[in-house]
Amino acid sequence: MVVLSVLIPFLLMNSCVATSEEKGAALIRKTCNHATYEKICISMFESDPRSFKAYHTGLLRIGIELSVSLTNDTLSYISKVFDNTSETSNHTLWLKMQDCHNNYDFAVFEISQATDLVNIGLYCDASTQVDFAFQAAFLCYTSGVPQFVEINKKVYKFTYDTMTLLYISQSS
Ligand SMILES: *[C@@H]1O[C@H](CO)[C@@H](O)[C@H](O)[C@H]1NC(C)=O
Ligand SMILES: *[C@@H]1O[C@H](CO)[C@@H](O)[C@H](O)[C@H]1NC(C)=O
Ligand SMILES: *[C@@H]1O[C@H](CO)[C@@H](O)[C@H](O)[C@H]1NC(C)=O
Repeated sequence: MVVLSVLIPFLLMNSCVATSEEKGAALIRKTCNHATYEKICISMFESDPRSFKAYHTGLLRIGIELSVSLTNDTLSYISKVFDNTSETSNHTLWLKMQDCHNNYDFAVFEISQATDLVNIGLYCDASTQVDFAFQAAFLCYTSGVPQFVEINKKVYKFTYDTMTLLYISQSS
């Protein structure tokens, strides 16, 4: 897997996300106000009813779980398309699909370790685990397999913001 430099938004490190008393829709909006891809951030959290009852750390945990299932679902989708693509019809395309598949396969394993790290307060390390999914999605997006463009956009945007929120939390 080609390793990109970690794109952590350092400028956001000193900002404060929310007070610990807040929860519900107000907390989702306030949290996603720090996101680069605010609309996807809000719609992902709002798609999970648990988000409305969560306090700050709970919301981070949900963000990771949503990132894990989004990454895993994308791996399933990529596997399905890849398995249905002949190696000989367009070998270049087939190789790109294989790369996407292998990177996602690795990323699902790595990102699934992130929740345990948040549970012991290691937000920064959790962010590093989420970064594997961000990188898999971003690389697959830029490789330009037409069938994977839209889904990768969603994965890299949401995982990027999950990393951002974890990073901010570590330093606040
Ligand atoms: C990924 O999805 C499969 C089913 O498609 C499931 O068996 C597996 O536990 C999931 N992995 C994670 C890390 O959620
Ligand atoms: C598999 O590929 C064929 C032709 O390339 C297509 O018609 C079919 O819908 C594909 N099936 C799946 C499950 O993607
Ligand atoms: C093979 O797929 C690539 C996309 O990765 C595309 O640019 C190229 O035109 C395709 N070649 C053929 C012969 O269809």
